[in-house]
Amino acid sequence: MDSTLTQTELNKSSKTKTDLFYDDVIAGLKSTPKRLNSKYFYDANGDKLFQELMNSPEYYPTNCELEIFSEKTAEIADSIIGDGDAFDLIELGAGDAMKSTYLLKYLVSKKADFTYLPIDISENVISYLNITLPVTLPGLKITGLNGEYFDMMEKAASISSRRKVVLFLGSNIGNMAVNDAIEFCRELRKHLSSGDMVLIGMDLKKDPKVVLAAYNDKEGITRRFNLNLLERINRELNANFDIDKFEHYPTYDPETGACKSYLISTVDQQVTINGKETISFLKDEYIYMEISQKFTIMQADQIAINTGFAPVGQFFDTRKWFIDAIWVAA
Ligand SMILES: C[S@@+](CC[C@H](N)C(=O)[O-])C[C@H]1O[C@@H](n2cnc3c(N)ncnc32)[C@H](O)[C@@H]1O
Repeated sequence: MDSTLTQTELNKSSKTKTDLFYDDVIAGLKSTPKRLNSKYFYDANGDKLFQELMNSPEYYPTNCELEIFSEKTAEIADSIIGDGDAFDLIELGAGDAMKSTYLLKYLVSKKADFTYLPIDISENVISYLNITLPVTLPGLKITGLNGEYFDMMEKAASISSRRKVVLFLGSNIGNMAVNDAIEFCRELRKHLSSGDMVLIGMDLKKDPKVVLAAYNDKEGITRRFNLNLLERINRELNANFDIDKFEHYPTYDPETGACKSYLISTVDQQVTINGKETISFLKDEYIYMEISQKFTIMQADQIAINTGFAPVGQFFDTRKWFIDAIWVAA
C-alpha cells in the first residue's frame, strides 16, 4: 500500500465513477440552496447537445475562439514552440478539440516535437479523440486521459517530465466563480514547473443582451442541455425526475459578470433516487446548475499575476469579445 495516500484518497480510489456521481448528486440536492455540478453535463448526450449549442447562432464564444485559432494559428504556435525543445501539449476539458485541431495541424506540419495529451471527464470525448485525431492528423502523437483535470495532470506528469504547455479553452475557467477560478489557477501552477506555459481562453464582459441570449437560445438547446443532467440522473442513478416539471432560467449580472443557469421546480414535488433517497422540491424552488463567468482583460491579467504566472501574450477576435491569453509559470 502506498503510505502517501490519505484515507480520503483511498475511499475515493475504491469508488466507481457512478458512486462518485451518486455522492455528488445527493450532496448537492441535499444542500441549501440545491445545486448540481456542471461537470456532469457531459455524458454522450450532453456532449452532443453541447456540439449543437456551439453551432447555434446565439452561442458566440465558440466562433470568437475559432476565429482566434484559425486566423492566428502561426502566432500562437510560435509562442508555444519557443526554442523548439520537446513538450507535452496538455488540453484540459478538450471536448471535440475543434479549435485546438487548428493548432495541432500546424504543429504537426512544422514537425514540432510534442505529444498531445487531451484530458476530459467524458469517456465518450476521450475515445472519440483517441480514434479520430490520428486519422485526421497523421503523425500526431496522442494519449487521451479520461478523468478529472488534476488527477489526469498527475497521470500526465507520471508519463512524461517534458516541458508542459497547457490549453484551457472555451472559457472552461468561467465554469467557476471568480474565487474558485483563482484557487484553480493556484492549483494548476502547483502542477507546473517554472517556464511551463498556459494558453487560457476567457469570455469577456460585453453587451448583457448578447451574453444572456447565448445561454437562452431560441431553439432551446441550452434548456435541453440543462435538463439532460436530470435525465442522466434518471438513467444512471435510477431516479424519477419528471423533466416537464422543471423550467430552465438563465440570468446575467453585468456588474459581477456572472451568468448563471437554474432549473426551477414548477410544482411541489418529490423525486426518488436509487430507491434510497427522496428529495423534496417546493414550487419555485431552484437548482443552481452552472456559472459562466465573464471577465475583464485586467481581471485576466490579475488572476495570472496573483496565482504565480506572468501574462506574456494576448490574442483577441475582431470584436474583442474573447481573449486567449498566454501565461508563463513564474
Ligand atoms: C464547455 S466544454 C468545452 C470544450 C472545449 N474546451 C471547447 O472549448 O470547445 C467543457 C469540457 O470540459 C470537460 N470537463 C468539465 N469539467 C471537467 C473536469 N472537472 N475534469 C475534466 N474534464 C472536465 C467536459 O466534459 C467538456 O468536454
